[in-house]
Amino acid sequence: MKVIKVKDNETMSVKAAEMLSATVKRLAKPVLGLATGSTPKRMYELLIEQYKTGDITFAEAISFNLDEYVGLGPNHIGSYQYYMNENFFNGINIKKENAHIPNGLATCLQTECDIYEQQITEAGKLDFLVLGIGENGHIGFNEPGTAFDSRTHVVELTPSTREVNARFFERTEDMPKEALTMGLATIMDAKEIILLVQGERKAPILKEVIHGPITEDVPASILQQHPNITVITDLDV
Ligand code: F6R
Repeated sequence: MKVIKVKDNETMSVKAAEMLSATVKRLAKPVLGLATGSTPKRMYELLIEQYKTGDITFAEAISFNLDEYVGLGPNHIGSYQYYMNENFFNGINIKKENAHIPNGLATCLQTECDIYEQQITEAGKLDFLVLGIGENGHIGFNEPGTAFDSRTHVVELTPSTREVNARFFERTEDMPKEALTMGLATIMDAKEIILLVQGERKAPILKEVIHGPITEDVPASILQQHPNITVITDLDV
C-alpha cells in the first residue's frame, strides 16, 4: 500500500481530486467507483470547480456508487442518491443514465444486486475507485465478518455503523437497518483505488488496516493485497 501523508482535509481532497481527474483525462470512457459520507465531500467540490473552468469533462464517464440504504429513494435527504446529486452529479456533466447507484427501493433486492454487479462487469470493471473507511473497518458497507469473496449484496448494518451515520438523519430511528453494497471482491477488482482517511477517530483502524493481519474481522485489511492502492491521510501510520 502506498501512503501519502497530507497535512489536512484540504490537501487530502486536492490530491484525491488530482488523481481522479488524471484518470478521467487519460481514458476515453473512464469507469469510476464513488463513495459518499463526509470524507470525499471537498474532493467533489474541487472536481465541480475543475469542470466549471473547462479543465475536465465527465461527458463520457460512467460511475458506480459503492452503496445505498434499503428503503430510501432519491428524494430522501438521507439517501446516497440524494447526496450524490447534491454534492456532485448536479454540478457536472455526467449523463444521468451513466451514473449508477444501487436502487434501495427495488422490490427484489437480491436481483438488484445481481444486476448491479453485472453492469459493473459489462462496463469493464472500475478504473478508479474512491473509498472512505468506517471506524469499524468497513469499506462500502462491508461490515466486519463480510466474506472477502463477496459481490454486491444486501447487508444488515451493525449497531455501531447505525450510531455513527445517524448524524445524517433528522431522527435516529430514521436511520435504515439495511443497505446494498458492492462486495469486497467487487472492490478488489478495481484497477486503481484511493482510500481517504481523515481525523483522529480513524487512527486506530487505519493502523490495523495497514499493519495488522489480513482478516475478515477488519474488512479493509484485504486492501493490503491490492496491487494499486494509495492511502491519502492526515494521520501518522
Ligand atoms: C460511503 C461508504 C462508507 C464510508 C465510511 C466513512 O459510501 O461506503 O464506507 O466511506 O462509512 O464515512 P465518512 O466519510 O462519513 O466518515
